[in-house]
Amino acid sequence: MSDNRAVGVFDSGLGGLTCVSRLKDILPHENLIYFGDNARVPYGSRSKETIIEYAKQDVAFVKRHDVKMIIAACGTVSSAVTGMKNFGGDTPFTGVVLPSAAAALRSTRNGIIGVIGTSATIASGAYEKAVKEISPATRTVNTACPLFVPLVENGITDKEDIIVKEAVRRYLYDIKCSGADTLIMGCTHYPHLTEAIREYLGEGVELISSGAAAAEYAKELMEENGLLTDSRAEGELICYTTDSAELFDENAGKFLEKSIKYRVDKISVEELYI
Ligand code: DGL
Repeated sequence: MSDNRAVGVFDSGLGGLTCVSRLKDILPHENLIYFGDNARVPYGSRSKETIIEYAKQDVAFVKRHDVKMIIAACGTVSSAVTGMKNFGGDTPFTGVVLPSAAAALRSTRNGIIGVIGTSATIASGAYEKAVKEISPATRTVNTACPLFVPLVENGITDKEDIIVKEAVRRYLYDIKCSGADTLIMGCTHYPHLTEAIREYLGEGVELISSGAAAAEYAKELMEENGLLTDSRAEGELICYTTDSAELFDENAGKFLEKSIKYRVDKISVEELYI
């Protein structure tokens, strides 16, 4: 069995492109639709009700493109909708929480896992619950890092930058002291701070990218359900943003990490309310 429709990926902004980047590596023939709600980023400082309302609109928009699978490549959305059954309706759906928790549990040797995310994500306790459901004896140390998304969206990620260094030290101090050997970067923006985080925590701590973990999990789901394409041509990437297409273009390269070809169109926020 095969299915040649596209895979839909969305995020509040550009962070979900870390998931797209991984999908491009492991499923190069799949067509991808990416939606970044850049006009309304960040989601992570909003109420759960608002995040769920936005997430429903995002899913509805992605579904208009006849996708075979939807990935919420956003820790904040994934945490808010955890426990809500069939969030994608009749379309297979995954967030980043479960795949990241499973990846962290495969990696930890001492049973101590650090979790970082937006304020909404950490307040939801979703990663902690997902870890404990699989492995009740595992300990998680959870910290909200509200300054990380604005730093990344503004391109301030250099590990030698004094602001980056100080933010990383402040937010990760407790996790470092806990002896955690694995860290879930529970927001898809955070892999852009990998170098700074690695420098502070040391090489011995395994860093889990939530976007990459979700990409790998989605691949497994598609394999199991006969949803992979049988095309051997390079897959297309079509992006939509609620903010300026030029701005998206300027910053997307940093998130895609390599020169992946794509087309980007702007849509208005009003279109999400249709
Ligand atoms: N990439 C989103 C996440 O994973 C960004 C957070 C936000 O919009 O605040 O949580």
